[in-house]
Amino acid sequence: MIHITADDNNPIHVVILAAGLGTRMKSKLAKVLHRVGGMSLAEHVVRAACHVTPPSHITVVIGHQSEEVRTELAPLGTNFILQEQQQGTGHALLTCREALHAAGGLLMVLYGDTPLLSPATLQRLVERQRRHQAAATLITTHLDDPTGYGRVIVDDQGHVRSIVEQKAATPHQLGIHTINSGIYCFEAGLLWKYIGEIRPDNQANEYYLTDIVSILNRHGHAVQSMEVKDSPELLGINTRVDLSTVDKIIRDRKARQLMLDGVTIEKPETVTIDAHVKVGPDSILEPFTRLVGATVVGEDCRIGAGTMIESSRIGDRVHVAALTHISHAVIHDDARVGPFSRLRQGADLGPGTHVGNFVELKNTHLGAGAKANHLAYLGDAQIGERVNVGAGTITCNYDGVNKHRTTIEGGAFIGSNSTLVAPVTVGEGSYIGAGSVITEDVPAGSLALGRAHQVVKPGWVERKKQEQTGD
Ligand code: UD1
Ligand code: CA
Repeated sequence: MIHITADDNNPIHVVILAAGLGTRMKSKLAKVLHRVGGMSLAEHVVRAACHVTPPSHITVVIGHQSEEVRTELAPLGTNFILQEQQQGTGHALLTCREALHAAGGLLMVLYGDTPLLSPATLQRLVERQRRHQAAATLITTHLDDPTGYGRVIVDDQGHVRSIVEQKAATPHQLGIHTINSGIYCFEAGLLWKYIGEIRPDNQANEYYLTDIVSILNRHGHAVQSMEVKDSPELLGINTRVDLSTVDKIIRDRKARQLMLDGVTIEKPETVTIDAHVKVGPDSILEPFTRLVGATVVGEDCRIGAGTMIESSRIGDRVHVAALTHISHAVIHDDARVGPFSRLRQGADLGPGTHVGNFVELKNTHLGAGAKANHLAYLGDAQIGERVNVGAGTITCNYDGVNKHRTTIEGGAFIGSNSTLVAPVTVGEGSYIGAGSVITEDVPAGSLALGRAHQVVKPGWVERKKQEQTGD
């Protein structure tokens, strides 16, 4: 890996243009907020840029849904500049002039809709620009189908003379297959000196940043290109078709990396794993698993087919059977969950616990070795170690206005089909008879029965028959 050094005398600033709506997305959501691989397009670009300069030297130009974009990226520590009206890529960069013109050094410009950019390519671009002392270096590539991209016009010496946008190109220029990737590295002083000369003299009435190339040439400053071979890395997202193409590339990369790191993935083409998800070695992911958000799965786990896990922490040797839904939950080592379980926000399963089919947990802690194997709802509950929760048990945590807590102390046995009306406490080691409705606290070591006495009437059927027939 090339190491780039940026010090105060030789700074690198990065501007990321992310103010456009992205009309071709046909969306209410600003384009750069659309997600691929579990991250917004803009975040992908910022993370790549962070490999050439610290976030304090990165400025994101925002416009459409500026507050949402700011909220999305603020945790990364970048700066923001508002482009109130989106009058083109040249205009977007111009809005940064006041804030950045005194900085000197190099200025890299990236577009917020190119999420596959690799840090190595950006580092090479900086190196190239440093070595050659041109006014700017831009990344080009050769595309079999260049439709939609700006075409790069190069002279005999290999210098870039101008960039012509698709809409403005002559038939001859449309035949050029070398395109502008939208990734540039400028000598900052020259860029700021001449950027004001960009005019909206085109059909779209926009200030095209690409015009800066011919302007620099006009003033006697060379612009060079860095040709990168056709690679998805340069893909700019304009439509939802592009979005799915890039999403698939990122998902495939993630699955491949996990496999290389020791995770078995059955039918890797069917799984969906977000960029930040971690999975420990010797874990097995069955087909169609979905691991998203900040999920961490430990070692030697098995995640069953069709299971979805969102922003949850799973320990080691945990088995989650098929079609289980887990969101914002914690599962400790050696637990068994599913099939068909639902763990919601705040579910916290202790070591060696069992949660079976059609059991729903919300904001509930299960102590080590506790079991709820079938058909239960446990909400706002503190459940002790080795408690057995029978099939059909319900904690009635909601009275229509407020939520109340249920406490079940260690070793208690909750008979099937029990209804625990919160707030209520079942003491240590107690038994609740099956079918009970428990409305009052049960002291430790007791048996509680909250149901009608069974009545049996021997010979009742025969007597009834005789009454009816009159025999
Ligand atoms: C642009 C280039 C084209 C290049 C292509 C590569 C120009 C004029 N054209 O075209 O040469 O081949 O990218 O993908 O630059 N933006 C703003 N403010 C604006 C307008 C755009 O911030 O006023 C942002 C957008 O949010 C987007 C980026 O700039 O992230 C690029 O804009 P887009 O409209 O997608 O440019 P292209 O038509 O793809
Ligand atoms: Ca684009």
